[in-house]
Amino acid sequence: MMLVLILSGILVEAQSTMDEKDEKIARQVQELLDKMTLAEKVGQTNLYNGTWEFTGPVPADDNSQEKAELIKNGGVGGMLNVLTAKGTREAQKLAVENSRLGIPLIFGYDVIHGYRTMLPVPLAQAASWDPEVARKGAEVAAREAAASGLHWTFSPMIDISRDARWGRIMESAGEDAFLTSVMTKAWVEGYQGEDLSAVHTIAACAKHFAAYGFAEGGRDYNTVQISDQTLYNVVLPPFKVAADAGVATFMNAFNELNGVPANGSEFLQRDILKGKWGFDGFVVSDWGSIGEMITHGFAANDKDAARKAMRAGSDMDMEARAYEKHLEALVSSGELDEKILDDAVRRILTIKFKLGLFEDPYRYCDEQRESESIGTTENLAVAREAGRKSIVLLKNDKGLLPLPKDVKSIAVIGQLANSKDVPLGSWRAQAVTNSAVSVLEGIESAVSSDTEVTFAKGYTLTTGRRTFIHELTIVPEDETGFDEAIAVAKSAEVTVLVLGEDCFQTGEGRSQTDIQLKGSQLALFRELMKVNQNIVVVLMNGRPLAIPELAAEAPALVETWFAGSQAGHSIADVLFGKYNPSGKLPVSFPYHVGQEPLYYDRKSTGRPQTNATDDGLVFWSHYTDAPNEALYPFGYGLSYANFAYDQLKLSKSDNGVTVSVSITNTSSLDGIETVQVYVHDVVASWTQPTKRLVAYKQVELKAGSTYTVEFELTEQELGFYHQGYEFYAEDGTFVVMVGGNSRDVLKKSIDLSF
Ligand code: GLC
Repeated sequence: MMLVLILSGILVEAQSTMDEKDEKIARQVQELLDKMTLAEKVGQTNLYNGTWEFTGPVPADDNSQEKAELIKNGGVGGMLNVLTAKGTREAQKLAVENSRLGIPLIFGYDVIHGYRTMLPVPLAQAASWDPEVARKGAEVAAREAAASGLHWTFSPMIDISRDARWGRIMESAGEDAFLTSVMTKAWVEGYQGEDLSAVHTIAACAKHFAAYGFAEGGRDYNTVQISDQTLYNVVLPPFKVAADAGVATFMNAFNELNGVPANGSEFLQRDILKGKWGFDGFVVSDWGSIGEMITHGFAANDKDAARKAMRAGSDMDMEARAYEKHLEALVSSGELDEKILDDAVRRILTIKFKLGLFEDPYRYCDEQRESESIGTTENLAVAREAGRKSIVLLKNDKGLLPLPKDVKSIAVIGQLANSKDVPLGSWRAQAVTNSAVSVLEGIESAVSSDTEVTFAKGYTLTTGRRTFIHELTIVPEDETGFDEAIAVAKSAEVTVLVLGEDCFQTGEGRSQTDIQLKGSQLALFRELMKVNQNIVVVLMNGRPLAIPELAAEAPALVETWFAGSQAGHSIADVLFGKYNPSGKLPVSFPYHVGQEPLYYDRKSTGRPQTNATDDGLVFWSHYTDAPNEALYPFGYGLSYANFAYDQLKLSKSDNGVTVSVSITNTSSLDGIETVQVYVHDVVASWTQPTKRLVAYKQVELKAGSTYTVEFELTEQELGFYHQGYEFYAEDGTFVVMVGGNSRDVLKKSIDLSF
């Protein structure tokens, strides 16, 4: 009892210290605000790009000298893409040593999955279902970014993504709100740590608020029309988790949501985010998106856009330069209440104080720390572990995997197999080009000295320039490498064939209407299968692919995503059994792109498959030329071990239902299983998905052992948001499903009242 009292005392003490710290900052902010001129207040709302790197269309009137003058006059609040301890110091000196009040700049950058050390892309991290993968990765990213003078990352991207045609699915945590919420909390805590002013932590940014992933047709930046039910129960939950986790900033989205551009949405930014959720950080627009309200047809001109965005709660303008041009006049003329501007500036200054920038504006500009903190062995080890845990074993029918380390000969085939660049992903921050460990290198370092490793390129996927901002040239057909590939496959004991996408096929502006393997990849697979059936297909991709032929024909199939700086080692660790794969898909893989958007938590409809009749009547919800189901469902992933589920039991508890299930590892290998719990609220005032992930646990299962795993489901898991954003659970029958993926489950029903 005494220990509890002591601990609770410490917690209370910590909270009161935190409150005191916040109160002190609030006083400091108000004192500063009271001194500021209108022009200086407007200055804080401007976020401008450095001249060091562009990640979006550069404004025609962009002029670094002009920006330097603005900075010196206190006309800029923050910069993005200004890099290195030295570079940020230069820019910071301009502001601090020249402007009247010396208010420091905040420096932001897209540290999406690493600064120099690349972690697996976020979709891959989500495939680990392990929040520690997200947390540790974010800690590494923050440490490297903060050592390089940065204060703020535009991450995590937590847009629910149900459409594989949308290139930015790679940046997300996939299709499910619960899994995305688990990863969100870990990412935010990993970036921000316990103290934003610590020199190894950075401010995070929950983006893109909101519903960017629901762009019609999977076409980037396209219109979003979704119901309140989807918005409240699928889109918003991860953002609320981010707000509750204390994320310092939000970034709103390019898209319109049901007729209103996110920048101009008072509902999203004031009613929900700053109102109901009590968010006290600041909201930054996406690149130029305030000005884009004109092209959306929501604002008449830049001035109208500036007024509407500021009123709606967009506190900082990234590169639209609308606030710089119009806010002062809008306030002076009374068209915009200065209190609204004061609120925005207060929020921005508060984060700068929390970052410790007023104590020491150069605290993050330490070139010694920069040289010591980047690309370290420890950071690379975190990347390797994250890569291993993100890998999903999709097929291993013939027990081809794991490969013996002393296998006599291995043929490694594919342009992607010896790429040291593609595994870095497209949002690669300051990763050094061609710095990843390739699959070929990983295999070469993993096998015994007697193993003969041969390589053939086999196919050419891309040609020409490969950059973040330019179109990629995909080679439609190229069989010139087939003969060499067939020859090495023929003479090898086993072939590792790496297929998939170039990393610049995914990411911003990279929507595709077709998600099959491009070029001659599949043709090569068919030719190789004719000469050697011992083929392990390794997928390297940033989105679900339509791969029914590989699923049917390949003896072994491993999803490795873009696995980061240590990709080759992570992949080899799994291929040779140094790590028993534990990943589970965070997105559904379709048979055909025509099934997109494809997601597991679908509604029954009035004519589900059960309405199908034997005599082939067509009057049920289906395609005549493809299945409804996923080729590989959400939550799916195999192990080298085998796990058997039985004895699912449900029992009412004080707050809901206790779920227990027995799992046996029937193999001779230890393994990790992610036990997933789905529910279906059978009858409700808003129809509910036939299954929805509400809980999961990752359990280590010793060979031959049996375990009982328990879950408590309460109103928090069984309820949903109703009209008016009211959350509660409804009395009635619930089907509870438990399994190792969203398809193969044990199920039982129970009647509950709340
Ligand atoms: C881009 C992206 C956003 C990114 C920002 C800054 O257009 O939409 O995610 O953080 O611009 O680079």
